[in-house]
Amino acid sequence: MYLQDRKMTQECRDLISSLPRQGDGWMEGETTFYQYQGVWLANLFIQGVVAFQKHFQAHDTDILIATIPKVGTTWLKAISFALVNRVHYPDLQQHPLLTNNPHVLVPFLDMDLYNQKEVPDLTFFTSPRLFSTHSPYSLLPLSAKNSTCKLIVSLSRNPKDTFVSLWHFANRLRPTSSGTLSLEDAFDMFCRGVSPFGPYWDHVLEYWKESLENPQKVLLILTYEELKEQPTYNLRRMAEFLGSPFSPEEEANGVMNDISKLCSFENLSNLEVNKNGKSFNGKENNVFFRQGQVGDWLNCLTTEMIEKLDRITEEKFCGTGLRF
Ligand code: A3P
Repeated sequence: MYLQDRKMTQECRDLISSLPRQGDGWMEGETTFYQYQGVWLANLFIQGVVAFQKHFQAHDTDILIATIPKVGTTWLKAISFALVNRVHYPDLQQHPLLTNNPHVLVPFLDMDLYNQKEVPDLTFFTSPRLFSTHSPYSLLPLSAKNSTCKLIVSLSRNPKDTFVSLWHFANRLRPTSSGTLSLEDAFDMFCRGVSPFGPYWDHVLEYWKESLENPQKVLLILTYEELKEQPTYNLRRMAEFLGSPFSPEEEANGVMNDISKLCSFENLSNLEVNKNGKSFNGKENNVFFRQGQVGDWLNCLTTEMIEKLDRITEEKFCGTGLRF
């Protein structure tokens, strides 16, 4: 359900009336972007983000996947679900990921559950609860920051690929009546930080800093590119971080490889449920799977765009040790 199907509370109306705004959205249903506590949020999701921040009570055993859109959230959800539930689903031929989109198995707290209802009923989620969020660290509810719940973060993806992925995604989701979002307009918004849950760089930096200060709480997978290059190594890191490392039998039986194959782009994108099904917010599942490659920016961006994005990234990440 989109927010426009649900009435915005007076409290939220009062809140947004005082926020900086920008008139253009990226995709379907987005008419306005609001800057809430430094973060750009579409009109469709701001109420869910605020309700999540206000009402969510984290359990110590919760696992939250925290990402900015288009850095590989769908993939990370699939891997995390398969890892956390591997004792329940040892037979990968019968696995829930074969018939359910990852966004159904690991719902968004901010964009989905708290967007549908001010205080959703979460009692039917069994421990360890596995959720996801696109909110940056600064917007997380206090209970998520103060409990021992774990945050798995795909630190990022090359900003040029993230932008290109977002631009394609936006155009897939725009109604024909709104026309195509040009590469130039999208690029301008992205560079100004006006992208979903942006600025992209601030989102990345917040989790990066938190992972350095609190490595027990925040696991960085580092980048989409590294996850692509070394999936089994990163699966091991995730399993250890979550307190359930692969046993010698699992190692011997190649369970990491099996999970990695189950969650691969090639496998997931070719499943019937992801080719023709619909799920989160009524979206067609296939919008979450495009190319799954590293480096598509080379085919899309002009030299000036590449230079500009590289310059912004260098400036923002200067002195942090982060590089793309
Ligand atoms: P591209 O648009 O470059 O193909 P998110 O899930 O955060 O929305 O990110 C979407 C990006 O991740 C898309 O990138 C999509 O194709 C890619 N993706 C989805 N599932 C994947 C998987 N299992 N393995 C690798 N990439 C995946």
